[in-house]
Amino acid sequence: MPLGSPPLIVPRLIAHRGLSAHAPENTLAAVRAAAAAGIRWVELDVQLLGDGTPVIWHDRDIARCSDGRERLSELTLATARRRDAGGWFAPAFAGEPMATLDEMLALLVELGMGVNLELKVNRGHDPLALAEAAVPALMAALPAERRLVSSFDARALRASRALAGPERLALGALFDRVPHDWQARAEAVQAVSVHANWKPLKAERARAIKAAGYALLCFTANDPRAFAPRWDWGVDAVISDDPTRFL
Ligand code: G3P
Ligand code: MG
Repeated sequence: MPLGSPPLIVPRLIAHRGLSAHAPENTLAAVRAAAAAGIRWVELDVQLLGDGTPVIWHDRDIARCSDGRERLSELTLATARRRDAGGWFAPAFAGEPMATLDEMLALLVELGMGVNLELKVNRGHDPLALAEAAVPALMAALPAERRLVSSFDARALRASRALAGPERLALGALFDRVPHDWQARAEAVQAVSVHANWKPLKAERARAIKAAGYALLCFTANDPRAFAPRWDWGVDAVISDDPTRFL
């Protein structure tokens, strides 16, 4: 059994970066859209601006998802606030701001939603500073059954476990390809879930993860028919840009 306990209970459908098929990813609007569609959990990426403010953002820079071009490390919150993080997606979302972690947590509380908060350690960024900024805030805002911290970065997961202390914090180990030593890596941080890219995941590995007592979450799947056989492997949840397609 995983060392982290009790086991994690997540809904089968989790909206990736909010309902990112229908609203600009990782924004408050994307989380509101997920809630409006009846989805109760969202996956969101968190990282730090140059001034240390934790914000909900995926990329290392803001070129793809805003009208600006800076790297996050070059931005203060005041400058980030002047960028439009919605208009790139559709005119209806023009003026949507980059969300801070605090704003996002307040919205999740208001909507009664759960979050899989991915500590996104882009190249050159400090995993410890990110965990220190994000984990206590998350734990203060949401009850244990509505929060999960995940990362590809083992240092960020170790720091999160250390920060959480004896308090219950579900941790998920993220893998693009689940490696042969996945269980040792999960045990090292007392993870309760394994999050795997659904495409390279094989039935045998999925069944081993489930047999060892871990929750198994798959990202990022958008085709319910192609994904379907995985439910029989014991997959607990799919993380999708449009989970409503799986309803
Ligand atoms: O947390 C699952 C998934 O979000 C990991 O990949 O690049 O979409 O953050 P990415
Ligand atoms: Mg992510």
